[in-house]
Amino acid sequence: MNKKIAVILGDGIGPEVTQQSIKVLDAVAKQYGHEFHYTECLMGADAIDKTGNPLPDETIEVCLNSDAILFGAIGHPKYDNDPNAKVRPEQGLLKLRKSLQLFANIRPVITYPSLQHLSPLKAKQLEEVDFIIFRELTGGIYFGKKETNEEKTYAFDECSYSREEIERVAHLAFQYAQKRRKKLTLVDKANVLETSRLWRKVIQELAPQYSDVAVDFLFVDNAAMQIIVNPKQFDVVLTENMFGDIISDEASVISGSLGLLPSASVGNGSALFEPIHGSYPQAAGKDIANPLGSILSAAMLLDHFGLNKEAQVVREGVEWTINNKFVTKDIDPVNFYFTSTIGDLIADFVSNKIPGDIN
Ligand code: IPM
Ligand code: MN
Repeated sequence: MNKKIAVILGDGIGPEVTQQSIKVLDAVAKQYGHEFHYTECLMGADAIDKTGNPLPDETIEVCLNSDAILFGAIGHPKYDNDPNAKVRPEQGLLKLRKSLQLFANIRPVITYPSLQHLSPLKAKQLEEVDFIIFRELTGGIYFGKKETNEEKTYAFDECSYSREEIERVAHLAFQYAQKRRKKLTLVDKANVLETSRLWRKVIQELAPQYSDVAVDFLFVDNAAMQIIVNPKQFDVVLTENMFGDIISDEASVISGSLGLLPSASVGNGSALFEPIHGSYPQAAGKDIANPLGSILSAAMLLDHFGLNKEAQVVREGVEWTINNKFVTKDIDPVNFYFTSTIGDLIADFVSNKIPGDIN
């Protein structure tokens, strides 16, 4: 298989974790006879520094002409505390999502038995936790009309959804549920918000097309609590943009480290793969960040190409490092390995240089 991959290293630890994914993808290509062609492009604070623009047109162009996008992280502290900043790194990512029509963000939440001690939840609550959050990614309050008056005494952000925007992500979520444990939970605030009532109506209307999927509804405040109290009840969770942003960070800590979780953003054409963690500027350049979120995102990219066997081998490599205590500082602050070493080990695992003890 011959594929074009756009690579956006991004900010903070983005470059060093993404480089590990490239190492692993190269090992996959070599071992299984594929060709992956990478084109690097700019986005975020890095792009602002180099071009003044968080998303240069050239980046959109390269991404549109690629089969997939591998992305590191975005954000820099110098923008976070400056309410007057006109240009922000995050604008780059939001514009890219919109330009590529990446309307569904898929965030799997899985747990590793050997990392249970790192989770803020008790071992008992962690058993059998395996769910996926489907977050609508190109609508809602993120992309609504927004304004502040000159005196800065008033501001608003508008939240709107069309039936079409809800339907396209809902179909994907239902189809995933059909391939999994056949349960779909819509998270909304239908007791207060008009947009949420539309979400509920649309999901109720689509449900008969997926009669093998059990559908339930939770208000977002209750869902935030249930994710902590009883996370194993969830299979596929579907929600709008901002609720999805918030509950997916909440859910991410269940597995023990934010550094472990991957994500895929998909739409009609290309798809983007990124770890769910941020740019972690304090760790940038130190070779200590956890590359597993990025490497597992690369596994999702392989699945997207239909290379399921290759994706599975990458996941086994990840599990092999975790089970053999080859872990980064976030997992073991005393006996830790460097970012690049973990990347080497997983690439070696893929190349069959390390005998896997799992099958
Ligand atoms: C995420 C991030 C982004 C978001 C930011 C960086 C704009 O938090 O991907 O979850 O809010 O969507
Ligand atoms: Mn977020």
